[in-house]
Amino acid sequence: MSHADVQVEVDDYLVETLVPEDEALVAARESAQDTTMPGAAVAPNQGKLLALLTEMIGAHRVLEFGTLAGYSTIWLARAVGPQGRVVTLEVSEQNAGIARRNADAAGVGDVVEIMLGPAGESADRIIETGQAPFDLVFIDADKPNNARYLQAALELTRPGSVIVLDNVVRAGRVADQDSTDDDVRGVRDALALAAADPRLDGTALQTVGSKGWDGFALFRRVS
Ligand code: DHB
Ligand code: MG
Repeated sequence: MSHADVQVEVDDYLVETLVPEDEALVAARESAQDTTMPGAAVAPNQGKLLALLTEMIGAHRVLEFGTLAGYSTIWLARAVGPQGRVVTLEVSEQNAGIARRNADAAGVGDVVEIMLGPAGESADRIIETGQAPFDLVFIDADKPNNARYLQAALELTRPGSVIVLDNVVRAGRVADQDSTDDDVRGVRDALALAAADPRLDGTALQTVGSKGWDGFALFRRVS
């Protein structure tokens, strides 16, 4: 067996052992096939990590860039609890419709607010209307705009808030400083911005498994 096959087997084993999904989560994960980006949803063990982080910091308000079918949204919404709020930004009407149905079926319809439109514009609208800060932000939308989304996240959080940036490794391509790939440039721009901003303290990890070789960055706002 190839390394990739074993990595998928290990993910299957870990998820079977530790990360039970109910019918609504399975249906949401499978409905990703009907979105504009089949295969981009987080894996179950990644969704569970987002939920654990949310619970560990006692987050009530979560902002997500990139809804897709709402799979990670459901994990986050269940973690904030019935009094919490997950605002999730999605550019595709098709995806937003699928996510709405999935969130409702998962029992978190009242917790989840889907804002339809380009995520940067939706974030600007939230900044303009002056809502309470978000406790956790998950950035997982179009990668070329990562730095813009991170900047918006800094406008929308407070000291102590946590920011998670998905897909920072891209099968190793992120290490190429001369890359002309817009996704890689978007990741590198965001990480450079984070590194230069004294308000953010963070790290990044590579991951393997059912989603191939990628990774995520984790930041805490220190001021
Ligand atoms: C892609 C995007 C994602 O958010 C992800 O988790 C995996 C892949 C993509 O752009 O292909
Ligand atoms: Mg992702």
